[in-house]
Amino acid sequence: MTNAVAHLLVACASLLLLTTQQAVRGGLDVEPEDIYKTIKSKNGVVVDCVYIHKQPTLKHHPLFKDHKIQVYPRSVDSRRPVGHLRQEWHSSGSCPAGTVPIRRLPKTTVTSPPAAMPSFSRDQHRRDAIILDDSNSPRQEFAIALALAGPYHGASALLPSWRLAKIEPGDASATSLVISGTVNRTWASNPFPGEIPPDVTNQIAVGLMTDPAVFGNGDPHLYVFYTNDGGSSRNCLNFQCPGFVQTSNEILLGASFIDGGSSIAYGGVPYVAVNIHRPSGQQQWWVSVNDTAVGYFPHFLFPTFFPESFVNQLGGSVRDTRPGGAHTDTEMGNGRTPDTGGAAVVKAYLAVAANGADVKDMPVKYAVTAPKCYNVAVLGENTDVPGYDIAYGGPGGSGCDE
Ligand SMILES: *[C@@H]1O[C@H](CO)[C@@H](O)[C@H](O)[C@H]1NC(C)=O
Ligand SMILES: *[C@@H]1O[C@H](CO)[C@@H](O)[C@H](O)[C@H]1NC(C)=O
Repeated sequence: MTNAVAHLLVACASLLLLTTQQAVRGGLDVEPEDIYKTIKSKNGVVVDCVYIHKQPTLKHHPLFKDHKIQVYPRSVDSRRPVGHLRQEWHSSGSCPAGTVPIRRLPKTTVTSPPAAMPSFSRDQHRRDAIILDDSNSPRQEFAIALALAGPYHGASALLPSWRLAKIEPGDASATSLVISGTVNRTWASNPFPGEIPPDVTNQIAVGLMTDPAVFGNGDPHLYVFYTNDGGSSRNCLNFQCPGFVQTSNEILLGASFIDGGSSIAYGGVPYVAVNIHRPSGQQQWWVSVNDTAVGYFPHFLFPTFFPESFVNQLGGSVRDTRPGGAHTDTEMGNGRTPDTGGAAVVKAYLAVAANGADVKDMPVKYAVTAPKCYNVAVLGENTDVPGYDIAYGGPGGSGCDE
């Protein structure tokens, strides 16, 4: 076993052995006096309009004492065409300015999201960083394309919102856009485009996750995520631990977009435009959905400095609890692998260059943990919208273990 793979296995093991976080009032610490009003949507989702200064991050993180809520710079709005986007709760009410919508989740113990990417094998002679994890315990599977022409100030893409045909109890499956930076400032000050950096300790993700144990049903739900330790102990999904500062009073984390929720659709599948970027002159990373700033991750969450991304990642991940001791049948993407045609596709990936411009940027490597059953492929440039398309996913199944 090479050193890199050994390290990876250690990283994966520690990610999975995470002690589960005890949920506080449905995963969030929101007190009744923090709530302006509560909206019950027809599909049973309960949304609290929480006073913006009383949101969980600002109340519970010592670094946010006296934090001044940041404003999204107007000048960077409307970078690309977006469609009409709706979430089910919008038909039951809205949160006024000065409040932010926060979903009340059932009291449940939340496990680690399948979100933090592992440290990659750094075999620079390979086009792909294939990572094999042969452990017979729960594990995370990944099939992601890596863009390595950084330093980047962000990334954007259109993510498909597929309803999975198969998800095993306790498992989760996600499609995401991730930016990641290294803590090695020596490497960062003299990066090698096309090379994987020594680590991906700092990561921010936005995506759609199917996790029935957390979200109550098998639909894909909007999430944001960050880690500042490569996933070894800090894995923060939405507001489950303090970090994300929400500014939008319209977009609800933990909500789905299916059934006509997005007017951007290809072949009947809704797509959601997502973007993570650091505007010039600001230090925080903003997450936008549908070209609407949802909120941001301040720079001080990352003690080792995270001013730029060196790996933009696109694709899927699965938390495999190994039901019955065998590999899960939980699907990634839409359950089809790229080589069969008809796989799920992340569309129109663009990088945000260090000067703030959107640039076409082809992912040049892959990180795949179980290539027999979950895989990824760069399809080429999208013919309608600028950017690259990436097919990903697969059916899982016992064949993965062979
Ligand atoms: C999505 O963007 C469109 C176009 O700007 C806008 O009309 C719509 O209100 C947005 N949806 C949300 C939920 O912000
Ligand atoms: C940091 O990067 C430098 C330059 O690429 C490299 O020589 C050094 O080994 C790296 N340090 C670690 C701890 O990976």
